[in-house]
Amino acid sequence: MSMIGLFGVLIPFILFLAFQCSFLCKKSLGGPILKNWPFLDASRNALQYPRVLDWIAEVHEANDLTFVFKGPWFSGTDRLFTVDPRNINHMLSSNFAKSKGPEFKKIFDILGDGIVSADMELWEDLRKSGHALFHHQNFLKLSVSSTSSKLNDDLVPFLDKAAEKKIIIDLQDVFQRFMFDTASILMTGYDPMSLSIEMPKVEFGEAADFAEEAIFYRHLKPVILWRLQNLIGVGIERKMRTASAIFNSTFAKIISSRRKEEKEPAIINAVTYYMNVDTTKYKLLKPGNDTFIRDVVLSLLVAGRDTTSSALTWFFWLSKHPQVMTKIRQEMINTKFDPTDLETLVYLHAALSESMRLYPPVPFNHKSPSKSDVLPSGHKVEAESKIVICIYALGRMRSVWGEDASDFKPERWISENGGLKHEPSSKFLVFNAGPRTCLGKHLALLQMKMVAVEIIQKYDFEVVEGQKIEPVPSIILRMKHGLKVTVSKNI
Ligand code: HEM
Repeated sequence: MSMIGLFGVLIPFILFLAFQCSFLCKKSLGGPILKNWPFLDASRNALQYPRVLDWIAEVHEANDLTFVFKGPWFSGTDRLFTVDPRNINHMLSSNFAKSKGPEFKKIFDILGDGIVSADMELWEDLRKSGHALFHHQNFLKLSVSSTSSKLNDDLVPFLDKAAEKKIIIDLQDVFQRFMFDTASILMTGYDPMSLSIEMPKVEFGEAADFAEEAIFYRHLKPVILWRLQNLIGVGIERKMRTASAIFNSTFAKIISSRRKEEKEPAIINAVTYYMNVDTTKYKLLKPGNDTFIRDVVLSLLVAGRDTTSSALTWFFWLSKHPQVMTKIRQEMINTKFDPTDLETLVYLHAALSESMRLYPPVPFNHKSPSKSDVLPSGHKVEAESKIVICIYALGRMRSVWGEDASDFKPERWISENGGLKHEPSSKFLVFNAGPRTCLGKHLALLQMKMVAVEIIQKYDFEVVEGQKIEPVPSIILRMKHGLKVTVSKNI
């Protein structure tokens, strides 16, 4: 590297470190800082994560739902933050709903060419083929059978044992293991058996958690800084490299064993589906290329494991409200329901929606317009500029959800005739909206309901007093210290 090149890297790096030190020196957070919007105040708060999400919500409410964040001039961290449903509706129905932009692909490089970070024609092929997979009869059957057998064979015995021995368990860890096992069976045909009484170390799960945290921090740093950290292997970027190596070796083993099996197997999972995908229909997919299969399936696996386990954890934490649990139980007693078709459980659906409104598993969404535009709020955005929609803040806006926005009230989802109330996705953006709506929404809701029904019918949880419940800085809303509970059997 030339001297100029070296200085080009080091100067921003040193300035950024100084900048970060100034955040860390501040010990406590005050109210939202709005006066003059000094970037240091804004960014200092951004690193005090446990409070930052609430703080971002307060700033949105105080600024008519939209504000501009100015980072240091060299850092490329300027952002427009908006949770204005008019802006969201405009962005999701216009061209930049489809494309995520080149910056996103750089930040999510660990997912390679998977659907989450792909754009343009490749995304179109992945989206159409993914849609066909998620609607394939065999795949649908496998999603129900794998969830149901994991419940009966692993989760129930695990909770029985915890109840019998009166031990404290971390419910978040339990749900992550449960979802990892079911997602892995669905996507790769391999059951890692991570949910068992022995609670084995889950290398893949730890790698995914680190990668999600590193990606979160990449959104706050200049690209040049995190790339340099990755290159020399320091801080969270070192863990990102380890995560990448774990993903690669796990997938290398799975793909090579699937390649040895017969073509077009009777049981379809994402690996076998993409290995045999019809390239006359989806011209840009590469069934013979192992890296491509790794990218596509890894994205699906991560999308399925972490979001659903986060949603379940916050749901059970909020369901400590005894009146909510009583109503859910009452509905189960009064309703005839098919365990594989849980649509009739309206109150349960309402309670799940309500917990995801307050604790969305994906708390941020990033957009980047392909050409300059003026948003309905009057804010001008340049081509390739960065827009952040804080879904966590959106769910808490009094001007959007009413004065009781911060209360957990499943009843708000129930219409006068007793059915479910529909809320537009510009207001309830938990599963995204428009062309890039979550492909796994129905699968996630089905799995969450199957787990909730089984657990609520059989067990009571008591949340351990005095534990700190706070989110970890990550692209997924996980609890930093987990959720400690004790279990007792109620039948
Ligand atoms: C409660 C559970 C879930 C929530 C809240 C959720 C939420 C989301 C959100 C917000 C996005 C948009 C992300 C972005 O554009 O940056 C998304 C995309 C996606 N989700 Fe989910 N998700 C959940 C479960 C699942 C499951 C179980 C799967 C299946 C494996 C899945 C598969 C996907 C895929 C493939 C995309 C990419 C869609 C595209 O870009 O075209 N999700 N999800």
